[in-house]
Amino acid sequence: MVDKHRHDSTNGVENCLVVHPYLKASQRVVSAVNARLEEAEGLANAINLNVAGCEAVSLSKLRPATLMGQGSVERITSLITGFNDSEAETGDTNHISIVIVDASLTPVQQRNLETAWKTKVIDRTGLILEIFGERAQTREGRLQVELAAQTYQRSRLVRSWTHLERQRGGAGFMGGPGETQIESDRRMIDQRITRLKKDLDDVKRTRKLHREARKRIPYPVVALVGYTNAGKSTLFNRLTASDVIARDQLFATLDPTMRRLDLPSGRTVILSDTVGFVSDLPHELVSAFNATLEEVTEADIIVHIRDIASTNTENQKKDVLGVLRGLGLDDDKVSGMVEVLNKTDLLADDEQEVAMNRSERASEVIALSAKSGAGCDHFLQVINDRLMANFQILEASLTVQDGKMLAWLYDHGEVIEREDDEATVKLKVRLDATNVARYEQMISSKRRK
Ligand code: GTP
Repeated sequence: MVDKHRHDSTNGVENCLVVHPYLKASQRVVSAVNARLEEAEGLANAINLNVAGCEAVSLSKLRPATLMGQGSVERITSLITGFNDSEAETGDTNHISIVIVDASLTPVQQRNLETAWKTKVIDRTGLILEIFGERAQTREGRLQVELAAQTYQRSRLVRSWTHLERQRGGAGFMGGPGETQIESDRRMIDQRITRLKKDLDDVKRTRKLHREARKRIPYPVVALVGYTNAGKSTLFNRLTASDVIARDQLFATLDPTMRRLDLPSGRTVILSDTVGFVSDLPHELVSAFNATLEEVTEADIIVHIRDIASTNTENQKKDVLGVLRGLGLDDDKVSGMVEVLNKTDLLADDEQEVAMNRSERASEVIALSAKSGAGCDHFLQVINDRLMANFQILEASLTVQDGKMLAWLYDHGEVIEREDDEATVKLKVRLDATNVARYEQMISSKRRK
């Protein structure tokens, strides 16, 4: 077992043990198992648990009663007892009160393991739901998480579920005569699910209206995507100088967050921060997750932020690209993404050089440190150039009375040359293709009048 620091849990921080079961037959390489353990530890930290230890458990087959074999169950029991005893010796009353099993558990397996270990047991879905629940900021995000949580809870209603019993407290619930506990619980959850779906539909309709309104203001959208903890919020904050929460925690952002950003040319774009990706996302959360990523598929530029200092960076990249393709993003968009190699400050000098070289060679790769700011100007320049590549130079000749059209051109494009004489204003304006078309339409309808 990897021993972790022992914290004082008197301030309410609970100790947990992280267990990552994997099938022996899948012959996972040690580094991949360690990477998964590291990720699970990060997830546990994200809900403020103190990780007392991490343990990988190899399984020869999946056991219906406890997932892992009896030997493994006992080994973990003794790890827990060992930890608790040594704490007692030092006079501390810290106990391991939670075991996180980084896998999907059936309700039966969860209950059996809770009985064997005398701790609370949380599986991967439960853990990620907790995190999503804590991080959801917008109404839509909160509704989606609750819907996922209720769906998860409904699937747990196989046997009597003490957790629900506790939650219900003394509140009056409607149970018809002869109705079993499970049936009435299920009915309550179903009612809640129906209500949540309806509320979500309403919120989505409003969001669609907002999106349409935003489309009328032709600011290009630049979306940041990336594996959880890659540094999206940190970069987003640095560039927009906003205060979106960035912590050394996973999923600091659940809801897409949008801010205005001015590029070196003076062009304005909307920068959009999205939820962090995670491997093996529990199916209850897939639709919540996809909804928060809907906006990404419509972005003008997608930026993939990578934690280049993570030992797992290549697998993370694969996961992110896989999810994006799964969302229906076409290959052109995936291959046209800008790739940011973040956290270069954590690299050794020679590795840093490799990253910088890649960044200099390829126009779609930028090495930077969102923390120190190194490379961020280069990033803005690349985004700027990308947008400008789609732009055309329009030559306009307006009468001096045509103030409205003049203002429109200043609003929607970049005026690079202007020549005024008594009767006319001649302009050279950099405009994107949509606005060139719009301008020409406005001019021809004016002529018809
Ligand atoms: P999720 O919200 O989970 O998707 O994470 P995120 O991608 O938004 O990551 P976030 O910006 O919250 O950063 C995660 C952690 O990495 C924080 O502790 C940051 O301080 C740290 N971090 C981000 N960028 C850098 C960097 O360039 N260098 C270093 N050393 N740390 C960084």
